[in-house]
Amino acid sequence: MIKIDPSEKKVIVITMALMCVFVFSILYAKDKYRSDVPECVPYDAAYLQPKVDTIDKHTYRIFAVASMWQFEPSSISIPAGSEVDIFLSSKDVVHGFNIAKKNVNMMAVYGSINKTTVRFEKPGVYTITCHEYCGVGHQFMQGQITVTNNSITKAN
Ligand code: CUA
Repeated sequence: MIKIDPSEKKVIVITMALMCVFVFSILYAKDKYRSDVPECVPYDAAYLQPKVDTIDKHTYRIFAVASMWQFEPSSISIPAGSEVDIFLSSKDVVHGFNIAKKNVNMMAVYGSINKTTVRFEKPGVYTITCHEYCGVGHQFMQGQITVTNNSITKAN
């Protein structure tokens, strides 16, 4: 039988406990903040056509395209309570895509599509900011999502 030094044993136990806490906290936060971990979607040039698709009254799909130095579509309007799938790509260099007040932080990369899903419950204006230095116009690179106060019946 292998003899394990007691202090080494202690380190192994503590490490495993910390790893459990770490994994648990990720799962907890994912549920609590309803954050969707961004995923990669197989590349298709169709995603480079900026658009907003209405799937139904509260489900939307946005093809967001970043380029020097703008986001297209630059201004999006959706009703409160909407769930939005965002497919993000870039026409040129690497750009950032951060939605203020939302737990969304993605990279727009040429030749790849990143996807995330966001729910907009509260009406207001949500600013999209490029947070990756992309040239002289970087600091002006913004877009916005306006969530309008169309009343919807909550199912609960
Ligand atoms: Cu785009 Cu900075």
